[in-house]
Amino acid sequence: MRRRLLRMMVCLVAGGWLAVIPPTWGLESPQPSGIPLQTILELEQTARLLAILLDSGRAVINDNQTLLDDPARADKGFTPEVFERQLVDMFRGRAGIDLQEIQTSTLTPRNKQLLKQLVAVSKQVIADAQADLNRHGTGFKGFIPAVFGARVATRFTAETGVRLKQTALVPRNPANRPDPYERVALEAFADSTYPREKVISELAATSSSLRLMFPLYATRHCLDCHGGPKGGLDRTGYPREGLTLGQNAGAISVLLPVTK
Ligand code: HEC
Repeated sequence: MRRRLLRMMVCLVAGGWLAVIPPTWGLESPQPSGIPLQTILELEQTARLLAILLDSGRAVINDNQTLLDDPARADKGFTPEVFERQLVDMFRGRAGIDLQEIQTSTLTPRNKQLLKQLVAVSKQVIADAQADLNRHGTGFKGFIPAVFGARVATRFTAETGVRLKQTALVPRNPANRPDPYERVALEAFADSTYPREKVISELAATSSSLRLMFPLYATRHCLDCHGGPKGGLDRTGYPREGLTLGQNAGAISVLLPVTK
């Protein structure tokens, strides 16, 4: 399989570090890749926080779906600033990091910069959608978590070179089809005994990038479209996947270039 040398695999549990590494590797000693483990752990954290932040934005869209789809109301009041407040709250609850106090946090400068850029890009996507969202007389406008996520990901990748992608084993959008690395992780996530929110990551064989897969789970709102009855059409016109509450619904894939 292309570039799939599993030099190391580090698994992190949201909220705490659980590193599965050979016991002889000290934090200070360089790894076979030549990259110190400390650096690898920092890259892991950056990738994980970017995935949580993108997913938090998706969740904010999901929470506001009924408002956004209201045909009777023109001005939804869902401005970039309103969105940002909800995003900051969501991210604080999920990652334990206050984006407004980020300068004083212990995160690395690159980590802080990328998180700030992802917030800015997310707000830009909301700003650009205003005319569409505030249209009177149209209910469903197609502005859903996946569409928001794809727009944010495209811009963020163009600006930073860090690739973000939403993917699933059987994707609705062929552009979201998993590559071999993503497929292996998605198959692990699909196992109902797989620990919740445990990410899967690896340093690519060339040591030029770190890859991370962050699992997504079906909430009640997601089931409006991705739930049952399986095969029946949802309001976006796609056949439903028949997912159940809490089941794995895909993943966010992060590819972070290693800068030395
Ligand atoms: C209003 C219906 C709707 C809701 C609600 C919804 N989705 Fe989706 N989802 C879609 C559609 C439509 C696509 C394909 C979008 C596209 O064309 O890129 C999609 C795509 C995705 C993808 C990318 C893989 C693929 O199938 O292309 C993931 C992952 C995903 N959804 C997970 C979720 C999760 C998790 C939730 C709840 C937080 C959710 N969705 C809520 C309709 C929905």
